[in-house]
Amino acid sequence: MGKMWAGRFSKEADSRVNDFNSSISFDCRMFKQDIQGSIAHATMLGECGIIDKEESLNIANELGNIFQEIHSGELAFDPDAEDIHMFIEAELTQRLGDAGKRLHTARSRNDQVALDIRLYLRDEIANIDKLVRELEDTIVKLAEEHTETVMSGYTHLQRAQPITFAHHLMAYAMMLLRDIDRLDDCRRRMNYCPLGSGALASTTYPIDRQMVSDLLKFDGVTMNSLDGVSDRDFCIELASALSILMMHLSRFSEEIILWCSWEFKFIELDDAFATGSSIMPQKKNPDITELIRGKTGRVYGDLQTLLTMMKGLSLAYNKDMQEDKEAIFDAIDTVKLCLTTFIPMLSTMRVNKENMRNAAAKGFINATDCADYLVKKGMPFRDAYKITGQLVALCIEKNTTLENLPIYEYQQLSGYFDNDIYKAISLDTCVMQRKVVGGPAPEAVKQQIEYVKGKLKVEE
Ligand code: ARG
Repeated sequence: MGKMWAGRFSKEADSRVNDFNSSISFDCRMFKQDIQGSIAHATMLGECGIIDKEESLNIANELGNIFQEIHSGELAFDPDAEDIHMFIEAELTQRLGDAGKRLHTARSRNDQVALDIRLYLRDEIANIDKLVRELEDTIVKLAEEHTETVMSGYTHLQRAQPITFAHHLMAYAMMLLRDIDRLDDCRRRMNYCPLGSGALASTTYPIDRQMVSDLLKFDGVTMNSLDGVSDRDFCIELASALSILMMHLSRFSEEIILWCSWEFKFIELDDAFATGSSIMPQKKNPDITELIRGKTGRVYGDLQTLLTMMKGLSLAYNKDMQEDKEAIFDAIDTVKLCLTTFIPMLSTMRVNKENMRNAAAKGFINATDCADYLVKKGMPFRDAYKITGQLVALCIEKNTTLENLPIYEYQQLSGYFDNDIYKAISLDTCVMQRKVVGGPAPEAVKQQIEYVKGKLKVEE
């Protein structure tokens, strides 16, 4: 294919330059958005009398045909076209002649690409948002089944205080709510139409930018033509929101990896969502969660690529910016892949309540409650803390637990102790008593579940 700019040049480009310059292998995925944008642009050109109205209708029609043909696989991308924008324009011109050549009036590839990426990311944000909501539903369902499943909460990966499995799960539900919020925020800031910015300094044609913006369902137009074509902060913002989302998925994955180890055995993955070993017959490996943990680094890398790519660019467009697409596409693909696999893995895993409870019983996680018992009887907290520490040491020495330590051992350390200590330190009491807003008591967790369900409904 001859170059659009052949008039200015006396030589064909070196084939290595063509290959190096080309972005069609990866920007072809924006064909739908490129066509949508061109149809809106052509419609506006016709309405404003910049091109003939009938020609504008023909252009829009033919672009519709091109879309259908690409979609059905009938029309293949030409690897020699520099990018998706050039390919579609050339295809249109081949079919319509002069009318096709008029499409690019009052437009540059610089505002065209800035538009296409926004349209593309807007669609993908909606897809990711849907997947995160599905994950929220899965978590909430699981939590509803486990509001009374006692387990230990951890700090430093050391058993700390009793909670329930539902409480633990709902922590992730809260994080994901904020992820949804961040995606929404990102979409809101990106949703301004840059078309009309031209190459950098807008255009002298009497275009109607608002009309294009309305046709493409933007919230308005970008207000500075240099900014419109040269910032990619919306890509960076999205990559950053996706990095945070991946960080959450990665922590959740790390816990699942621990929980299905023989040491914990809190959960068992469904056979369909685990893998075996080629040499060790006993193995059932949590590959999915490990891959999610691993792929998190990849999304962070995409964010780093974008930040670094942009940091030294003078205004306005520079070709460096073509590198935005592979990075943000990779981040999107990775997040979607991870969510799509994580959701069914989570909904099919089996929870071993008994092992959760046994682990909780052995870790002195009721020690705080034992100290609180003394405080409630009138002892200052620091003294109560010290006596409880001595009791724990005694239990370790005698290889027993606070629940099984005889009352006379308690009473030797403080006269405040009575038989009601056993009820006060039972794991169920410990959980039930923590019923403040945000706590692990079943009623408090049910409140969290209702909160998340409500948020998901309102924001739909
Ligand atoms: N393929 C280019 C990109 O992705 C389109 C914009 C090209 N503009 C230019 N002046 N070379 O950035």
